[in-house]
Amino acid sequence: MDRRYLLHMLTSAKNLSPFDANMAYDAGWDACIPYIQVDTDEVKGLVEDAIFSRGPTGVKRTGIFIGGRDMHQAMEMLDICKNSMVPPFVISAFADPSGAFTTAAAMVAKVEQALREHHDTELDGQRILALGGTGPVGSAAAVIASGAGARVTILGRQKEKCDAAAALCNDKYEASTPVDGAANDDLDALLDETDVIFASAAAGIQLMSQEQIAHAPRLKAAADVNAVPPSGIHGLGVMDDAEVIDGSTSGARGIGALAIGNIKYQTQQRLLQQMWETEEPVYYHFEHAFEIARQCTAE
Ligand SMILES: NC(=O)c1ccc[n+]([C@@H]2O[C@H](COP(=O)([O-])OP(=O)(O)OC[C@H]3O[C@@H](n4cnc5c(N)ncnc54)[C@H](OP(=O)(O)O)[C@@H]3O)[C@@H](O)[C@H]2O)c1
Repeated sequence: MDRRYLLHMLTSAKNLSPFDANMAYDAGWDACIPYIQVDTDEVKGLVEDAIFSRGPTGVKRTGIFIGGRDMHQAMEMLDICKNSMVPPFVISAFADPSGAFTTAAAMVAKVEQALREHHDTELDGQRILALGGTGPVGSAAAVIASGAGARVTILGRQKEKCDAAAALCNDKYEASTPVDGAANDDLDALLDETDVIFASAAAGIQLMSQEQIAHAPRLKAAADVNAVPPSGIHGLGVMDDAEVIDGSTSGARGIGALAIGNIKYQTQQRLLQQMWETEEPVYYHFEHAFEIARQCTAE
């Protein structure tokens, strides 16, 4: 009997995300086995248990998916996975905690596309505000965009929490420009200098008003991942795909949750599929997600 394609899905949360399980089956894995409330120091043992039981053919048909809610913990778990391999018992792994890596990658790739097509410019040098940026989607977007040369400020209700989130991004990943933190109360003062907005607060929270959109003199693009009304940015619809935002005085283009979701879906599916197609093991995270999201937007 042919060996089945088995995906061991690890999460530090109480439940595995049904979204991720659906995506994995639809990307061709035969079985997805959940492991919940996994601590970082349990990863090595689980990986060793998975790699030694299937022989050289079976090991090629075995993979690890890392979920959870924390991007930095997921990256640490991915590193442990990679370092726990014992050649020739080597398998692939993919971290996408809370869907944050593929969602953030899709948001940044869509903004990059809008900047190129409508403002003849690149992410490099843009000043970006990440509203709700202390969550996994916003922090991952900050890391990806700063890696592309943008100057990102993470905003949230408490400045200390934003400074801490920014410090983690700077300490753990080599961003070409440092990420900063600021409070939501600073938004009005920062808008004069802002080129791009990422909105990734919890669902149904609006963080940018009609007046603020009108008083953003150099805003070029704004993206909102929240699909639950009201939109995170006033005047931006879930279906918007680089239309001018209602009320913008600078001709800013809006990208809504469904336009981002479409690229996120394709990105996650391709990475999950590539994991079982590949001959050589792969260790996918936000950088690979951004690479694929850019390909998807270019098609
Ligand atoms: N379009 C897609 O394909 C897609 C895919 C996945 C997720 N999403 C969406 O992406 C968004 C972000 O996801 P996430 O997991 O990163 O979010 P999250 O961690 O739940 O929330 C992000 C941040 O929102 C802020 N926030 C929470 N409650 C708030 C309130 N009452 N008022 C103001 N700010 C509040 C918090 O920041 P502070 O405490 O620092 O203020 C929090 O860190 C969600 O809306 C989710 O539904 C979209």
